[in-house]
Amino acid sequence: MKNKDLVSIKYLGADEVQQIFDATADIKNKMKRGVYEYPLKNKTLGMIFQKPSTRTRVSFEAGMFQLGGHALFLNSSDLQLKRGETVADTARTLSRYVDGIMIRTFFHGEVEELAKHASVPVINGLTDLYHPCQILSDAYTVLEKRGTLKGIKVVWIGDGNNVCHSWINLCPLAGMDLAIVNPKGYSPDKAVLEHGLSMARKYNTKIEFIEDPKEAVKKADVIYTDIWVSMGQEKELAERLTAFKEYQINGELLSRAPSDVMVMHCLPAHRGEEITDEVIDGPNSIVFDEAENRLHTQKGIMVLLMAGRK
Ligand code: CP
Ligand code: NVA
Repeated sequence: MKNKDLVSIKYLGADEVQQIFDATADIKNKMKRGVYEYPLKNKTLGMIFQKPSTRTRVSFEAGMFQLGGHALFLNSSDLQLKRGETVADTARTLSRYVDGIMIRTFFHGEVEELAKHASVPVINGLTDLYHPCQILSDAYTVLEKRGTLKGIKVVWIGDGNNVCHSWINLCPLAGMDLAIVNPKGYSPDKAVLEHGLSMARKYNTKIEFIEDPKEAVKKADVIYTDIWVSMGQEKELAERLTAFKEYQINGELLSRAPSDVMVMHCLPAHRGEEITDEVIDGPNSIVFDEAENRLHTQKGIMVLLMAGRK
């Protein structure tokens, strides 16, 4: 990889995205055959969490172990960061102990700051703005299922949030089209969208907005949703539940989509809100294959960024 870090898909080239897919496929295929390699032997990953996590924490930690290394869970409330030590000093210090830092936090600028001052690779494990590891893993999942990403149409239904933003970053690079369906007031960030649209022009792909979910899913290869109330938005619960109620992925909506459409969700799901049991547990759902691939993709990313570094 040319990049030292994985802070945002926006900083990756199409070749680096492909490298991540190739490394992921190699590691996953070997693991399925019981072949383990240890390219991260004696390496440590520090994992800073300012928000809860199931998949990200466990897949990075298990992944590090499987690659011969060690992962260190650093709850931000136990770090001096909590008492005012700067992000830059935390970066400088941790770089003397560990070989990579994964961080999940609120303000995206903190990850940029950490990457700037750390001499070791920094991986974004979710911010309010982006969730790059999720979308690289999700696109890899689609690639596995369909054999190509070129011309694949993702229909995003729900909040124009961090996960949606990372789709906006990735789709043009991967040759995918993206249709976004949001209630008024919940569109993606303007700057993220503008950058995405300019990349879509460059790569000759589409990013479009469609108002009616039923119309949007008609030609979908993937229907994707996420929780309506992201971490840190809990105070907006009541207004969000009202705003999003017509945007549920349910059997009726699915009946308007092609019969082989794939339903995806980054999880955690709020069943009965953005998605019904019938859909998430139904034959079109690839949600748990998607969750599994977080492990394999994380390993691919860590090997590319951390193996071979002194
Ligand atoms: N999808 C995802 O990042 O899950 P966690 O919040 O459980 O890590
Ligand atoms: N948009 C969600 C994603 C969780 C993985 C959140 O930020 O809480």
